[in-house]
Amino acid sequence: MFTICFVTLLLAGSAVSQDSYNRRPDRRKIDRDPSVIFNQGSVHACESSSCYPATGNLLIGREDDLWASSTCDSVKLYHGIENIVSRIGKKKGVRKWWQSENGKENVTIRLDLQEEFHFTHLIITFKTFRPAAMLIERSHDFGRSWKVYQYFAYDCEESFPGIPRGPRQKITDVVCETQYSGVEPSTEGEVIFRVLPPNIPIDDPYSSDVQNLLKMTNLRINFTKLHTLGDNLLDSRGEIKEKYYYAIYEMVIRGSCSCYGHASRCVAAAGSETRPDMVHGSCLCTHNTKGSNCEQCEDLYNDLEWKPAIGRQTNACKKCNCNGHASKCHFDHAVFEATGRVSGGVCEMCEHNTYGRNCELCKPFFYQDPTRDIRDPNICQACDCDPIGSLDEGICDSRTDSLSGLVAGRCHCKKM
Ligand SMILES: *[C@@H]1O[C@H](CO)[C@@H](O)[C@H](O)[C@H]1NC(C)=O
Ligand SMILES: *[C@@H]1O[C@H](CO)[C@@H](O)[C@H](O)[C@H]1NC(C)=O
Repeated sequence: MFTICFVTLLLAGSAVSQDSYNRRPDRRKIDRDPSVIFNQGSVHACESSSCYPATGNLLIGREDDLWASSTCDSVKLYHGIENIVSRIGKKKGVRKWWQSENGKENVTIRLDLQEEFHFTHLIITFKTFRPAAMLIERSHDFGRSWKVYQYFAYDCEESFPGIPRGPRQKITDVVCETQYSGVEPSTEGEVIFRVLPPNIPIDDPYSSDVQNLLKMTNLRINFTKLHTLGDNLLDSRGEIKEKYYYAIYEMVIRGSCSCYGHASRCVAAAGSETRPDMVHGSCLCTHNTKGSNCEQCEDLYNDLEWKPAIGRQTNACKKCNCNGHASKCHFDHAVFEATGRVSGGVCEMCEHNTYGRNCELCKPFFYQDPTRDIRDPNICQACDCDPIGSLDEGICDSRTDSLSGLVAGRCHCKKM
């Protein structure tokens, strides 16, 4: 299809710099820093408290993960979606933007992330009128399921019937807002969405409600209605549709990598590219946790159940007592309860002929050498019983226990 893109001479605008971003008074309040949301943790120190990586613009360095269902791409006038990613040092005077095909009402923009991130807010700066109706939705399972964050419309009743009007009363409410869908301004109008609105208090930042709101692997923005300034798009005359389109100067998707309070720094996943100012997705985990989101305990640190760090509590993973004979353990609820909620770790694949929850016993046909430390790799010695003269196929007492009359290594001899 041949597309003509509209060139608006209205604005040969100047580049938006980080400065103008910060100058806007409403912008400073937008960031709810994770360390503030997750009460009193620190952005840096992990040693004695929870800690969080800094937030940034998730789009930086991810132009290739951004997709639009419609782009004006006539030969002379290409306005690709990558243009909406802000670049420090963008050349002044040459302001770029993304533009959809003329007259297309249903247009989708999507960001597909490679890891799970915490999404805090979104700001879109439009070049033309803001959409008369749009919605924002996200997935936290790499696109398998989607949930709407919020609807935006000039006329909520008409565009999204049945959706309650905003503002949200509870953080989990899904509402329709009219505030960002007006006809004015005709350019540089913004749409702002905060995942956790500042006016709603958050009691438990680790409740599944809050977590499910913050976690994100994919973000999708559907524009569903153009402002048509009195023209009727149902009018079948082509020239009316041709006048309208969506166009965006800049989009900022702020967030941080998601580490459950166990990391203050994140790095690029192996093999992925890095860019200055990029928000990377692989946590450098502390508190004996592991995983790209520190969502698990390290192999030998499962004596307590994994927990997120909260405020002053690091909830660090605790080392299992395997007496040096195993490199892995798992947490077992029943064992935890049986020990009076002290220790739930069960060692796996005990080596050196040991076995038991703590690798504290010698396997059958081995006995515990009483002269050695329990952590000695040679703690378990093979029984040395003559198979002909002994009972039980040559098994020996595995340890010394005066109460039950056991003597480590003693053979069970046949009575002559
Ligand atoms: C846009 O999408 C809406 C809802 O999905 C649908 O009702 C409408 O017909 C679509 N419009 C066009 C022009 O495809
Ligand atoms: C948004 O658009 C996509 C198609 O691009 C569609 O599959 C999805 O259902 C839309 N979302 C909603 C909530 O209508």
